[in-house]
Amino acid sequence: MPWLVHVQNSWAKSTPSPDADNIFEISNSIVAVDPDHGINGWYPIDSSAWLFVEAAQKVGEISDDHFELDGGVLPQLEVSVPKLAPLDLTLGDPEEPLRSLSSKITDEALLKLHRDGFVIVDQALSPALCETLRHEMDILLENGQMWDSQSYSHEEGALHHDICETTLDFKDVRFYAPTFTRMGTDEGLLRVLRRLPVLRDLSMQHLRLQINKGNGGCYTMHTDSGVSGEEDGRQVLRVTALFYLNEGWTSEHGGELRVYPYPSAPVKIAPLLGRLVLFHPRLVHEVLPNFRKRYCFTLWCAVEQSSTSSHFMEDLESMTCFNQACSVCEKATHLEKTPRSKLLQVPRPLRCLLLPEVRPLLVRYVFRDCELQSACRSHDEGPQKQEMLEGIGRYHQQMRDENPQWFRQLLEQLPGAEVGTARAARLGSYELKEVMRSCCPWWEDAA
Ligand SMILES: [Fe+2]
Repeated sequence: MPWLVHVQNSWAKSTPSPDADNIFEISNSIVAVDPDHGINGWYPIDSSAWLFVEAAQKVGEISDDHFELDGGVLPQLEVSVPKLAPLDLTLGDPEEPLRSLSSKITDEALLKLHRDGFVIVDQALSPALCETLRHEMDILLENGQMWDSQSYSHEEGALHHDICETTLDFKDVRFYAPTFTRMGTDEGLLRVLRRLPVLRDLSMQHLRLQINKGNGGCYTMHTDSGVSGEEDGRQVLRVTALFYLNEGWTSEHGGELRVYPYPSAPVKIAPLLGRLVLFHPRLVHEVLPNFRKRYCFTLWCAVEQSSTSSHFMEDLESMTCFNQACSVCEKATHLEKTPRSKLLQVPRPLRCLLLPEVRPLLVRYVFRDCELQSACRSHDEGPQKQEMLEGIGRYHQQMRDENPQWFRQLLEQLPGAEVGTARAARLGSYELKEVMRSCCPWWEDAA
């Protein structure tokens, strides 16, 4: 069983000898060594690198199905439980379509959203309102007020088959959809979300309506863009709210939203009448194949940001080395000056687990087969689709090449980990997962 050793500061050598060439410096990192192949205290850590393990401290072990780490490797990290602000019920027009959300989205739901990255709120909208909204969407479709959905990721845009979308600013949508038009300026949802301290600056929302016609139409795995902007890209999305309007939905109809709230396992959510799903825009999600006409709309809730510091999120999307992603994130968020600076003590690559910004990359590695299947089934055949699939395959291969095997193995163990047998002073996969969930909420205060 490979050992995990904590290297404070050392050099990997090209041969097991103190005189060998230094090949790379290792500082504050966890490294896997194979104890069966050591020579007088020297152990291979790479195809061409050896480490003198007496200079390092053994802190755990890993095998195909088991992981154990000394608890002391992670500093005492504080659990963050936000204090919710009160809701002012006197604000807003009593006729606002989203006004009922103030009583539907409970304190418990907001805290769950903060900790897990998503929450489901059932019966958020009344059946009567859902019917009105479905009717408006049918009229929009009949009158040519919707466009065919395109893939998020490609400049030339591969088509998502059987999915149509629209926004309030497209053609004459405001004329045909009066209830949605009122919703455009309705702050019913924003007021509730602002109760979470990290969301108190929410100042705008963007509405997107979507009809999925059935026939297996689905939407590829993705995150909602971290930055958008009508003029200069200075808006940052902070929450995605998906509302479903589908009466009599059953499992044969498919069309579930699947979210990947890593380190927890993926969750399938049926698009039931009146259901609202709130989630962090960087939570990876997809729509599974759908076999009946399916109605939903999205409110993307955003803050105005005067700096462009959040652009690093876009750079993160294309990174394949987890340690490099950590470095970019640490620099862009000025981590050393924030209350999260304790994370700098956590050895690499474990630090990746405690930076929520890096989570989408971990998901893309762990659920790489799902990503390929998702991209494959949601796009029309053609050269663009082929090019996209090849690009995704190359991306996954680079992740395999650039990250240590033991850590990739650990990443894959976390979503399935259940209460383990690890001793109190040691962390198994389950305990590590709990540390991630409680010490690394999805929203970090941007202030
Ligand atoms: Fe999305």
